[in-house]
Amino acid sequence: METVPSALPMQPGALVRQLKLLLMSSGWLGGLSWAIATILYLFLNSSWFAISPMSWQTIVSEVAVAGLVGGVLLMFAVYLSRYEPEIASSARHLYLLAVVLLGFLAILLLTRTIGIPTAISPIPAVGMLLALFLNWRVAIGGTLAVALPLDLVPWLEPSSLLLGLAGTCVAVYSVRRVRERMDVGRAGIWTGLAMAIGSAITGPLFIYEPRAWMLSALWSAVSGPASAILVSGLLPYLERLTGITTAFTLLELANPGQPLLRQLLLKAPGTYHHSILVGNLGEAAADEIGADPLLVRVGAYYHDIGKTKRPYFFIENQIGIDSQHDNISPRLSSLVITAHVREGIELARQYRLPKPVADFIPMHHGCSLVTYFYQQAVQAEGSQEVSEEHFRYAGPRPNTKETGIVMLADGVEATIRTLTKPVPEQIEANIRRIVNKRIDEGELSNAPLTLQDIERIIQSFNRILHGLYHQRIEYPDQLLEREEKARKEERRRLGGISR
Ligand SMILES: [Fe+2]
Ligand SMILES: [Fe+2]
Repeated sequence: METVPSALPMQPGALVRQLKLLLMSSGWLGGLSWAIATILYLFLNSSWFAISPMSWQTIVSEVAVAGLVGGVLLMFAVYLSRYEPEIASSARHLYLLAVVLLGFLAILLLTRTIGIPTAISPIPAVGMLLALFLNWRVAIGGTLAVALPLDLVPWLEPSSLLLGLAGTCVAVYSVRRVRERMDVGRAGIWTGLAMAIGSAITGPLFIYEPRAWMLSALWSAVSGPASAILVSGLLPYLERLTGITTAFTLLELANPGQPLLRQLLLKAPGTYHHSILVGNLGEAAADEIGADPLLVRVGAYYHDIGKTKRPYFFIENQIGIDSQHDNISPRLSSLVITAHVREGIELARQYRLPKPVADFIPMHHGCSLVTYFYQQAVQAEGSQEVSEEHFRYAGPRPNTKETGIVMLADGVEATIRTLTKPVPEQIEANIRRIVNKRIDEGELSNAPLTLQDIERIIQSFNRILHGLYHQRIEYPDQLLEREEKARKEERRRLGGISR
């Protein structure tokens, strides 16, 4: 369960092996990117045009640019294979990197061709896109890789390059936790503001004429919003092109108006409320250990979507009705219960849920045992006759921090709900019991959660459940009962007034 920290020193042989793997798996993409980038940099380098064709100077200049671009790309590839193995081994992520970095050079060439002031820098757009699709480290690394050779381009002011990189840092930081589409706009404004201040401060070092200095600061301020507009326009196309799920897709899926969530609310209201609670528990825990809180929340919303097929077989939906399991055998009950995972996967396919969200459906139960019906079957048939395998979920087990958190939050929420009047000690004891059970059964053996993460998750669950049970959680039957009482009270009160 412990993960090997990526910062451990790596033997040179292992690094070469990793790099060789990266070059073998995506060598053509790297080679093509290098060739296109070199051509674009040569076009961007205006001095290249000034040199007469096929002179020694031209050839040396071309080879120098190609060498520099190749060197920088190789350094970036070494970084990816060493520190970002997940991205380095994913074709769609490498494809996205190539499209964004080469697209940036093409846009820069276009802005020069149509005569947009050079102080308007699209560099922050690269950082924003890479941060939204990948992570902040690759965003900074990728921007540096593409911006470093620009230092050779004579028509670009050194200050615009520096300010572009500083703006990128602000942009990447601003989009680290997007909650809505407007966050990209806000990130653009902050970036523009930072670049304008930077330009106003550093202006006198590069520009000696006050009017030109002020104008440069003004154009720098435009860079942020311009980058945000570019990012907002490109984002949906890049999502479709690469199939990578961004925070925006997750935000759309979190909308209660989504067809699957509406179905869950209408057909299985108890499960709907359970999913919301699991989402709240999981989101806070993810925040605590540095996992993705939005992915956890959305994954929790959809984890039990398969229960919409036979909602009344699940205790949280049995409002004032007898258990549907009373008249069927434990074996059949177990089959019905475990089927909600299979049916959930089918619904996810039908409604095209992205893979990172659909993964929560089978992984929230992993390969766990349907203990209650297994024990009933053992009582009825004897332990010799009953195989555990028939009472287990098919898996796979959680393989990310996020799916691991939802597995724990799901078990904890379901257990605490059954306690009539839980006292604080009882809540914590039950959380620890559920978490330890999952660990002992090996359900978290593929999840990259450390023991420290687990302890923080427990503390976070404990804090939230204490808050919730301070005012007892009410389930649909209790809620309906309370609402009905309130309505009667209201009618009585209104009736009293009218009389
Ligand atoms: Fe479930
Ligand atoms: Fe659940």
